[in-house]
Amino acid sequence: MAIRNIRVDDDPILRKTSRQVTEFNDRLFDLLDDMKETLYKSGGVGLAAPQVGVLRRVVVMDVSEDRSDYLELINPEITSVEGSQTGNEGCLSLPGLCGVVTRPMVVKVKAQNREGKWCLYKGEGLKARCFCHELDHLDGILYKDKLDEGECLYRTENE
Ligand code: NI
Repeated sequence: MAIRNIRVDDDPILRKTSRQVTEFNDRLFDLLDDMKETLYKSGGVGLAAPQVGVLRRVVVMDVSEDRSDYLELINPEITSVEGSQTGNEGCLSLPGLCGVVTRPMVVKVKAQNREGKWCLYKGEGLKARCFCHELDHLDGILYKDKLDEGECLYRTENE
């Protein structure tokens, strides 16, 4: 496994649309393993493949504090949303910034795992927010495009 470089700020790759994964091979497994390592090293809760320069529909996530909720989502799609939540959001690709975004409170996602099997996931609160944020990355969308009306980006204090 290896740490991959995270693309930041105005890197044009962050604005591109990622392609579906069609081959579940060693190249994909290497990408997933590297993304997992990069996610944990960075201290983030989610990472999408375009953030490491790979335009494929792949996301890794773990919103837990003890690394107990690791997920790999391949070709993910949101199947239903419910309710709403308003809160701060940040992104490894926009270091030192955060902003207020309204997202659904409950989100269901279907995605393939590394064996290619379709699985269903349900997230509430932070996990629902993370599903939305990471899936947006696959379509070249950043949270700063979705700030609540009248909101702007803020500098975070600890960076
Ligand atoms: Ni992000």
